Amino acid sequence: MNTYARLPVTFVKGEGVWLWDDQGNRYLDALSGIAVCGVGHCHPVLVKALCEQVSTLIHTSNVYHIQHQERLADRLTSLSGLEKAFFCNSGAEANEAAIKLARLYGHNQGINLPTIIVMERSFHGRTMATLTATGNRKTQAGFEPLLTGFVRVPYDDLEAVNKVAANNREIVAILLETYQGEGGVNFPQANYLQGLRRICDQNGWLLMLDEVQCGLGRTGKWFAFQHSEVMPDAMTLAKGLGSGVPIGACLAGGKAAEVFKPGNHASTFGGNPLACRAALTTLDIIEQEGLMDNAVTIGNFMWEEFGRRLQAWQDVLKIRGQGMMIGIELPVPCSELVPEALKRRVLVNVTSEKVVRLLPALNMQKAEAEQVVTEVSALITWFLESRVK
Ligand SMILES: Cc1ncc(COP(=O)(O)O)c(C=O)c1O
Repeated sequence: MNTYARLPVTFVKGEGVWLWDDQGNRYLDALSGIAVCGVGHCHPVLVKALCEQVSTLIHTSNVYHIQHQERLADRLTSLSGLEKAFFCNSGAEANEAAIKLARLYGHNQGINLPTIIVMERSFHGRTMATLTATGNRKTQAGFEPLLTGFVRVPYDDLEAVNKVAANNREIVAILLETYQGEGGVNFPQANYLQGLRRICDQNGWLLMLDEVQCGLGRTGKWFAFQHSEVMPDAMTLAKGLGSGVPIGACLAGGKAAEVFKPGNHASTFGGNPLACRAALTTLDIIEQEGLMDNAVTIGNFMWEEFGRRLQAWQDVLKIRGQGMMIGIELPVPCSELVPEALKRRVLVNVTSEKVVRLLPALNMQKAEAEQVVTEVSALITWFLESRVK
């Protein structure tokens, strides 16, 4: 169906941060399939593990025990400090699981219309519940009636959450991206998560973090919430977890971990041996190759270099970054930069109309990062010279 305005290119091969099209041209990938290929394309350790798994066991069913799924649950819970995991196939499904968990948590306490606080400029997926939770009218328009049971507040505004707390007795949870991706690469103030945790504790709400885009080492920690002292009650993952083999996860701890009982939620493919092997191997590669440290070193280098090379435009640009999650906000819509970058054989993306977004693989090397910065800075300069006085 006609659901994507596709760029005029077909990639047929990938290696590390490089992709080749069907004409043999090579491209530098600074987007990694939108934060999916965090260990680069076709990492040899991953390829070997997947080949081995495909020839051993691909799928059984969740009506049986699955070794790799249990190992992956153990691994993710020990990395995050959460206690239980539910596996599915995408970010939207992971968030659906979190939303259902919060509603059931509310009903178990006799709350008839359990309501979840969500954020402006958020993105949580395209299913009916997750597009309702998403803070972007474009994602929702035409799909009404939306679901009930959501209240929206501005991101990074504790006062707005306090106001809702004072006026609504049906709230059961807050759902937010720890760092916003699609909404323009937005990072909150240092005390924001702590403030949300405090409000949740005072009111008996669940703090649920969507780390589908910002999680799994991208910002220099396994999970972005680990930059703070705060523990969430639930967290969702997908994208980078399986390095391109579809997998999503909803993790939960404390009172949230015991909410689902057999029959409450399920997925045919979720957590199958192939997807879980991909995820386990991805985690091994990130750990064994020190990729979180590399994400910080190279991410900082890129952020600083952008600041230096675009210094002449510092009054009109906002350059935001944490590790390998970088956004450069222009003063005007700039989506035409994406096909221009493609012509120069560099893959970037524009989100929220005005924000050039880079989500490179965590193992991008300095020379490659330098090439990305050179090309993208030149493009932005060319664009601004023609559009902005
Ligand atoms: C923060 C966040 N949550 C959820 C999703 C939805 O994930 P998926 O496309 O795998 O359903 C995305 C996708 O961009 C995302 O960035």
